[in-house]
Amino acid sequence: MTTATNSIYMVTMSAPTNIAVIKYWGKADTHYNTPINSSLSVTLDQTELRAITTIAVSKQFTKDRFWLNGVEEDELLHSPRFRACIEGVQKLAQDHYDAQGNLIYSKEDWKHLHLHISSYNTFPTAAGLASSAAGYAALVAALCQLYHAVETFPGEFSTIARQGSGSACRSMYGGIVAWRQGTPKQEWRDSKAEPVLEDWPQLRALLLVVSDSKKDTSSTTGMQTSVQTSMLLQYRAQHIVPARLQAMEQACHARDFGTFAQLTMQDSNQFHATCLDTYPPIFYMNDISRQIVRIVTVYNSWAGELRAAYTFDAGPNAVIYCLEQHQQHLAALLCHYFPIPKGALSGLDTSSMALEESLLQACNETGRIPRMGDVQTMYATKPGPGPLVVTDVCNLDPETGLNCYVPSLK
Ligand code: DP6
Repeated sequence: MTTATNSIYMVTMSAPTNIAVIKYWGKADTHYNTPINSSLSVTLDQTELRAITTIAVSKQFTKDRFWLNGVEEDELLHSPRFRACIEGVQKLAQDHYDAQGNLIYSKEDWKHLHLHISSYNTFPTAAGLASSAAGYAALVAALCQLYHAVETFPGEFSTIARQGSGSACRSMYGGIVAWRQGTPKQEWRDSKAEPVLEDWPQLRALLLVVSDSKKDTSSTTGMQTSVQTSMLLQYRAQHIVPARLQAMEQACHARDFGTFAQLTMQDSNQFHATCLDTYPPIFYMNDISRQIVRIVTVYNSWAGELRAAYTFDAGPNAVIYCLEQHQQHLAALLCHYFPIPKGALSGLDTSSMALEESLLQACNETGRIPRMGDVQTMYATKPGPGPLVVTDVCNLDPETGLNCYVPSLK
């Protein structure tokens, strides 16, 4: 939405989460926030999971202000990451004209004008559900829209989002997206996101929220310790990821789900192995996560093919990729072993799905006993587009420019 009521000019944009199948873990340069290896992810549909950011600019504003999920956040607003995003987009800003063609702000004006920013996530923040990816992508996308920014090379906006949070650069595009590691020359300008495959129409994902509490080791801190102490991480970045990424890209282009699934699970396992190899060790997966791995493994061997691929980020929550024709069956199986309260599975109905006796027997052998509450919510989702202009939501009051988003009580 673009409005200029009472000399307040504002825009609202939304941005998606993305879940990596080849993980980013470890920084080559902490100042530029660049990785020790390239990575690849799937951008998820925004229907359920997205960050929505409104930014307003006005001569009336006396200082920059930022609200996250309805709460004013001064520290984050003044953090180097946040400033890098604002200043990065300002450098690419253009003039702003009103509907009659009158110049309202010239591109030189922007850096003297204060901003009001209000952002919220439609899902738990900092719980390993890629909220910082969606959040920084929405921030950069909204700034680009506000300032009419123009890239000087393809992917430049993603290099700005990267400085907010590494994984955010991949949320700047839809579909399947790579983040190319880049090189130190020219201030890492080539460390950017690149769309690999616009669409894989049959690809689906189930997202199992095991815990929505804030993770105890942030990705930033965790990966710094891993870089300093894990030899396995160095080996992975240099000797495993380059070939694995190439194989993964080929699998995506060929829509070869079996290869995609195997590489996804192997890469998730290896990422968590590097966390264990970190000194002191970092534990992101928990007992429930491991039980999900066991059920998925049994499901695949029961089916005689790879139909489901789990992956875990910096938290215990699982994302399970599959194809459309198996999503309902897989969801029914997971709901059987990890029962969720009625209505906690959004986007899919599993009530009519009967599970085969042989499958249940095989899964029972893992020792998993169905228990309500181990998984809190399940989302059925699929790949989706990059940032979008929002016209029906606005987080700032158009008259005052103050936050008007109030979190709804669960
Ligand atoms: C495990 O992008 O959150 O999700 O750059 O420090 O903000 P910072 O880290 P962040 O790390 C994401 C790590 C991961 C893997 C991935 O998304 O590739």
